[in-house]
Amino acid sequence: METRRLLCVWFFLSAVPEVSCSYPTKTCARFDFPTLNGAILSVRENSSVVIPFTIIDNGCDVLGDFTIRVTTSSGDYCVIKGKKGKCLRVLGPNLACLCAAKKGTFSMTKRISRHDNGAWTFKGNWGTGKRNIFLNVTYPRTVNQLTIGGTKQETEFFKEGQAVDVECVWDQGKPRRNAQLFHHGERVRSRTVKTTKKGQVLRYSISRAECEDAGKITCEVPGSSLNRSATILVDCK
Ligand SMILES: *[C@@H]1O[C@H](CO)[C@@H](O)[C@H](O)[C@H]1NC(C)=O
Ligand SMILES: *[C@@H]1O[C@H](CO)[C@@H](O)[C@H](O)[C@H]1NC(C)=O
Ligand SMILES: *[C@@H]1O[C@H](CO)[C@@H](O)[C@H](O)[C@H]1NC(C)=O
Repeated sequence: METRRLLCVWFFLSAVPEVSCSYPTKTCARFDFPTLNGAILSVRENSSVVIPFTIIDNGCDVLGDFTIRVTTSSGDYCVIKGKKGKCLRVLGPNLACLCAAKKGTFSMTKRISRHDNGAWTFKGNWGTGKRNIFLNVTYPRTVNQLTIGGTKQETEFFKEGQAVDVECVWDQGKPRRNAQLFHHGERVRSRTVKTTKKGQVLRYSISRAECEDAGKITCEVPGSSLNRSATILVDCK
């Protein structure tokens, strides 16, 4: 256990020597996260995280009169005010901070959204020892929609020579992966054209449908929770 040492400087400029004392700048107290293994925490979107934390005091008695503020990357925060190690008031819109029975131990709880991804800051009114932890919010990839010739039918008829436009809307998730389009089980050249609220849009076109184009079209994202497919039928002479 470290103890706080007072640093004093004597001034002999005036008749009566003056003394000025200050604490050397060092971390008075620091945050400790007993359940965190490193500074990055991977969590799934919509899950609830509970992060216990304690204050390790290096002898400055920071919990004598304290304010702790936890701020998420999305700007949500909670504030704990207390005296003599005990909590007096806890505020927290959208972020719940709790004081544990044991002095100097706290925890915070939040239902995670994808906007919570990034650095969360833990700061005390004693100034030093601010800590950041990083939330790595993950969410699944999914194929939201597959349209062929502008419709969502499972089977779509085309005449020979007609153009066939395929569009797949997918959510790339995090970690990100790109969607792929398959025609007859073979990957086809497609391009991502835009990002909408529903997800990203991938397109593939057959300029003139031929008999042998009849078959299955699939839109897949590796590890996706949902892939989609539809069938092209070509009316051949
Ligand atoms: C975030 O979590 C995912 C899934 O657990 C992992 O693959 C990725 O490497 C993590 N990223 C960081 C920066 O830790
Ligand atoms: C989390 O909840 C939102 C809103 O209810 C929903 O749109 C989203 O798909 C959910 N994400 C996961 C990973 O379940
Ligand atoms: C969707 O396809 C990918 C391969 O591209 C696969 O990894 C994933 O498991 C599939 N998802 C489902 C629900 O079958």
